Amino acid sequence: MENVDKIDYGTFEATIRRSNQLEKDLIINPGKYRVLTGDRPTGRLHIGHLFGSLQNRVRLHKLGVQTYLVIADYQVLTDRDTFESISENVRQLTLDYLAAGIDANNGKTFIFPHSQIPELNQLLLPFLTLVTNSELDRNPTVKEEILASGKKNINAGMYTYPVHQAADILFCKGNVVPVGKDQLPHLELTRVIARRFNERFAANRPVFPEPQPLLSTSPMILGLDGSQKMSKSRNNAIMLSSTEDETARLIKKAKTDSERLITYDPDKRPEVSNLLLLISLCTGRTPEEIAAEIGDGGAGQLKKMLTESINEYLRPFRTRRTELESNMDYVRQVLRNGVESAREVATATLDEVREVMNMKI
Ligand code: TRP
Repeated sequence: MENVDKIDYGTFEATIRRSNQLEKDLIINPGKYRVLTGDRPTGRLHIGHLFGSLQNRVRLHKLGVQTYLVIADYQVLTDRDTFESISENVRQLTLDYLAAGIDANNGKTFIFPHSQIPELNQLLLPFLTLVTNSELDRNPTVKEEILASGKKNINAGMYTYPVHQAADILFCKGNVVPVGKDQLPHLELTRVIARRFNERFAANRPVFPEPQPLLSTSPMILGLDGSQKMSKSRNNAIMLSSTEDETARLIKKAKTDSERLITYDPDKRPEVSNLLLLISLCTGRTPEEIAAEIGDGGAGQLKKMLTESINEYLRPFRTRRTELESNMDYVRQVLRNGVESAREVATATLDEVREVMNMKI
């Protein structure tokens, strides 16, 4: 095998440049692309997800781009012991997608858990033969996740899930993957697997595209503690499904500082600036403008404004979510349709893979 152990992650700047070009072309030629992206079903989504990735997905599929949303239920098993709530989480995640405006009835958008697509999972076997142990060992995101899990014994699924993620992306020949920075090593591995597969088995007729990352342009949302990323497990998140009263209570407890005059200064005043940023995302006004308006109204005024902005912004979303929640049969139907369409493409791809690998009988 050539190129072994030489995964070139490139520079972040080059990735941003390519992502910006791709962004422009998506608007002109939506029909050229197939978006594949997804989440682990670990619980309900929060506003960090909404501003970070969900709205970007809604925007892309409104451009008319085909979109496959994979719910990575097997991936949940890589770093946690509990599995009891997985299927409930799959449904809650689907509810959040639909409430956020993902239209699963447009014939172009498919939501499915990867555990339901045997033909996708089967791609894992040939893909595992195209990478080396040391390449998997060196994946920076996996290393961080191992540290964060605090575990001594790491299961092999943790080291190999990026290969499985390549199957998630390549089963439908996805060529655009909207992701955050932490997922870039996985995407580079997917590109390497596509390239090596084509070189080894399909030199004359490439089977897989090399998918491109589309980086989210929205800023990173910190939690209400202002010191780390928003995340449910860190107890610093506003869930999309929270009530207006819960939202108000959470914001009341948000960390600020002792300076009364409100200013936007992300470096020196991360907590206050993050709250201003959230108001800005809800209202479309700049954080500086908002800070100037609050002036010496202090943290009390800032929090009051944030509570009102978020509750108003999320109201249509929350109404839709409550409606959908009382119609779980519909949510299940969306998943069944997604699985059916995903299996159709996966079957065609696996057939092609067997053909070029000489595994037809
Ligand atoms: N690893 C991703 C995460 O933890 C989830 C995921 C699974 C994914 N398969 C994917 C993301 C395919 C993009 C494309 O968030």
